Amino acid sequence: MKIGIIGAGYVGLVSAGCFSEYGYKVTCVDSDIEKIQLLNNKKIPIYEPGLADLVSQNIDKNRLFFNNKLDILIGHDIIFIAVGTPTARRGDGHADLKYIYQVTRQISEILEKNKNTLIVTKSTVPIGTGKEIVKIISESRKDLIHGKDFHIASNPEFLREGSAIEDFMRPDRVVCGVSNQYSENMMRELYRPLNLREAPLLFTDVKSAELIKYSSNAFLAMKISFINEMSDLCEKVGGDIQSVAKGIGLDNRIGPKFLHPGPGFGGSCFPKDTRALLATFKDNNIEPTLIDAVINFNEKRKIRMVDIIESCFNSSIKNKLISILGITFKPNTDDIREAPSLVIIPELISRGANVKAYDPAIKESSKKLLEFKNVVWCSNVSEVVKDTEALVLLTEWNEFRGLSPDFIKSNMKNPVVIDLRNIFDKEIMKNAGVKYRGIGFDRDNI
Ligand code: UDX
Ligand code: UDX
Repeated sequence: MKIGIIGAGYVGLVSAGCFSEYGYKVTCVDSDIEKIQLLNNKKIPIYEPGLADLVSQNIDKNRLFFNNKLDILIGHDIIFIAVGTPTARRGDGHADLKYIYQVTRQISEILEKNKNTLIVTKSTVPIGTGKEIVKIISESRKDLIHGKDFHIASNPEFLREGSAIEDFMRPDRVVCGVSNQYSENMMRELYRPLNLREAPLLFTDVKSAELIKYSSNAFLAMKISFINEMSDLCEKVGGDIQSVAKGIGLDNRIGPKFLHPGPGFGGSCFPKDTRALLATFKDNNIEPTLIDAVINFNEKRKIRMVDIIESCFNSSIKNKLISILGITFKPNTDDIREAPSLVIIPELISRGANVKAYDPAIKESSKKLLEFKNVVWCSNVSEVVKDTEALVLLTEWNEFRGLSPDFIKSNMKNPVVIDLRNIFDKEIMKNAGVKYRGIGFDRDNI
């Protein structure tokens, strides 16, 4: 089975590496020539644990190929579309499908009669995109018959950045939206190696598969906003959010995951997918009350974090030197798309604070973003903590977890720790004389 994947981003590259690991011949195509050159030299343009080895091993075994010419995919049995679906600039939350349609037109040029090419959307696309892809191909290739010469399917991914390979190889489920038996047989054959591990293959129609992706992400985002809202209540009434999260998580209808309070969700998915789903509701004249609340709560939370930071100083934070530990939207990634730091740092600076920052994986190019103007960048924990008047733990990288109260007291001008991910032990910090502020428990504890 010859597989083509269009888009060598987080989704396309991980999928290409994993499918070739199963022994399939995979050609990954991307319009970004530099990216393709890097990949052909076994260099990985993104930070994803384990991906470099996976890709270079499969290149060496002649199973994984990279190219920037899409016509190299002529004669491939399955072609995945894994290009970006960012939020459209026009600002009403719709996903921008220009890349999806661009590659669809390119695919239609290489399709051949009687070849039964299966075109699979792996990118997160709004409901109805599969139908639109059929329309584009049928209009540009009157000689081809949908359901005979070409087929479409939806196969959304549920990969988390930082654990994408694990999530691909050991998925909770594989969702396949298909419109005929041929497509179902092809997807069953393709995922047979995974099925051996009892990963359930769920077959449904294309529209339901498109909706499963959005509703999964929206539900997870809602779960995060829920625990964040409960953490605000705990601060007022004196509960401990960690116990509350544990207590509700033991109910197997709720489950323990995604109940960690923090500065709000970021990343390239939850923010854009909740906005896109909101737009779909509105397009269909349904009031998206819950999703609207999840998005608004999450946006406001980032500023609320700055309020919490400011509340740890007797006066304002004007001219105070504050260190930020962690900039990426989550650990084990270099991705800062929609990271809370993009809002929190400019707000701190606009309120007069001076900011030093350190992140183990942040790219040099990300440091140059407008939002990070005036930030003093450091290259390790000691440097960023030195002489500061507050330490803000923003992204829970493992290397921060071992920070000791002694280290903090001997390096900071003022030993104040504001832990926006509750990774430190508040009792140890307080007993050592560090002023500690976590989120989601009695505020007077500081
Ligand atoms: C993104 C979204 O994050 C995810 O939610 C969606 O499901 C898929 O798209 P990601 O892999 O992060 O996933 O995309 P991105 O990092 O933007 O990479 C997309 C790649 O497609 C880029 O390398 C881009 O150069 C390439 N591309 C884009 C093409 O090869 N051809 C095009 O016409 C457009
Ligand atoms: C998410 C989905 O988990 C994945 O299934 C989908 O395919 C892509 O989007 P990702 O965005 O990579 O994956 O990261 P994830 O680990 O889900 O975290 C998303 C955001 O939520 C991060 O900002 C993270 O810090 C935050 N988060 C997550 C919390 O604040 N609390 C939690 O308990 C979990």
